[in-house]
Amino acid sequence: MKILVVGSGGREHALVWKLHSSPLVKKIYAAPGNAGISTLAECVQIASEDLVGLADFAEKNYVDLTVVGPELPLTLGIVDEFKKRNLSIFGPTKKAAEIEGSKVFAKKFMKKHHIPTASFRIFDKPDEALDFVKSADMPLVIKADGLAAGKGAVIIEDLNTGISVIQKMMVEKVFKDAGKRVVVEDFLEGEEATILAFTDGKTILPMPSSQDHKKIYDGDRGPNTGGMGAYAPAPVVDDRMMRRIYDEILEPTIVGMEQEERTFKGALYAGLMLTDRGPKVMEFNCRFGDPETQVILPLLKSDLVEIFMSIIEGDLSLQEVEWTDDFAICVILASAGYPGKYEKGKEIFGLEKIEGAEDVLIFHAGTKQARGTLVTNGGRVLGVTGTDKNVEKAINKVYVFVDKIKFDGVQFRRDIGYRVRRVKKA
Ligand code: AMP
Ligand code: GLY
Repeated sequence: MKILVVGSGGREHALVWKLHSSPLVKKIYAAPGNAGISTLAECVQIASEDLVGLADFAEKNYVDLTVVGPELPLTLGIVDEFKKRNLSIFGPTKKAAEIEGSKVFAKKFMKKHHIPTASFRIFDKPDEALDFVKSADMPLVIKADGLAAGKGAVIIEDLNTGISVIQKMMVEKVFKDAGKRVVVEDFLEGEEATILAFTDGKTILPMPSSQDHKKIYDGDRGPNTGGMGAYAPAPVVDDRMMRRIYDEILEPTIVGMEQEERTFKGALYAGLMLTDRGPKVMEFNCRFGDPETQVILPLLKSDLVEIFMSIIEGDLSLQEVEWTDDFAICVILASAGYPGKYEKGKEIFGLEKIEGAEDVLIFHAGTKQARGTLVTNGGRVLGVTGTDKNVEKAINKVYVFVDKIKFDGVQFRRDIGYRVRRVKKA
């Protein structure tokens, strides 16, 4: 089979790596890919948002299966474009992807289908949003309705910040039309966890639970990032909690989407807060998480191509999906200045020291080849994933290799996995 993977980050490198191991796969293209992906796939310079360009490419090159990494092409309707041309593609349609593309849609949907989430109000007029925030108890969370590259949710602890966030989102339009409407919701307390599930719109097969580390600095301090590391499985999601998540969240979501004629096929991502009153949804994503994918796919024993094909064909119920019982951890190495302004083009050293290392994988995010050397080309540059039966060994193994990688200004968190250590000691 010929496969096309759309996207260029660490998540897409992990997808390409796993697909490459399938005996069904003869050739992989990636659009646009990155330096790491180019060792396993042919990178083609088509942007992930160029839906027509991607469909033309898949047609001309007889691509048998297209796999979409990021949310933007999904919310723009890449799956609809491919289906119109009878091209096989893994991911939700535009209507189904709205579960991520519009927080207003997602919140109304959850309310209607009794899916646990924070109480909320929706505003499309800045004055009304301001009046509400002035009268409400803090903390609160203000969220832009549309896609905002992970920066659209702000926790408000005092009125001045609330006023300024409403001003920025709704009046100055820093997120363009994505901030025209906002959701203001209650702040939830608890521990965060991610549950991803494969689904063909009927059958739901949850993947191992995981946890992301969104803040830039150790101890979960500083501004939010795209994710500085992750691990799987997350011990807070024990069997009982997983059952509740399935019954109270995953199943009503998939059934509700079907009822609303928005059948969801693909990877459904539920970003949860585990509160003392049970699991609640903070966000749905319509795709694999980044960096969660970099810890989940290394635990998958089954053939990912078979899983994707059975989802497209609607017979996931016939598919066996097997996982190892290892623990996986991924530490992200980022450029100086990230998540703010950063420079590109810094030479990367030390990757050769990892080649051949057992159970350690490097997933490239922002890298490229320039004049024969590997250089940084983004905020998040690389992810190092390690797997082991033993949690401590996995964590130690990863950091041995993280310490060998050097580039000017490299920053990473030293404490990825700290919550697992805490649970183990408790
Ligand atoms: P979202 O984009 O909705 O997932 O929000 C990004 C991050 O903001 C989440 O991972 C949480 O850390 C935080 N967050 C979002 N909504 C809430 C909430 N209702 N209560 C507490 N924290 C939240
Ligand atoms: N790790 C968070 C996300 O993929 O949106």
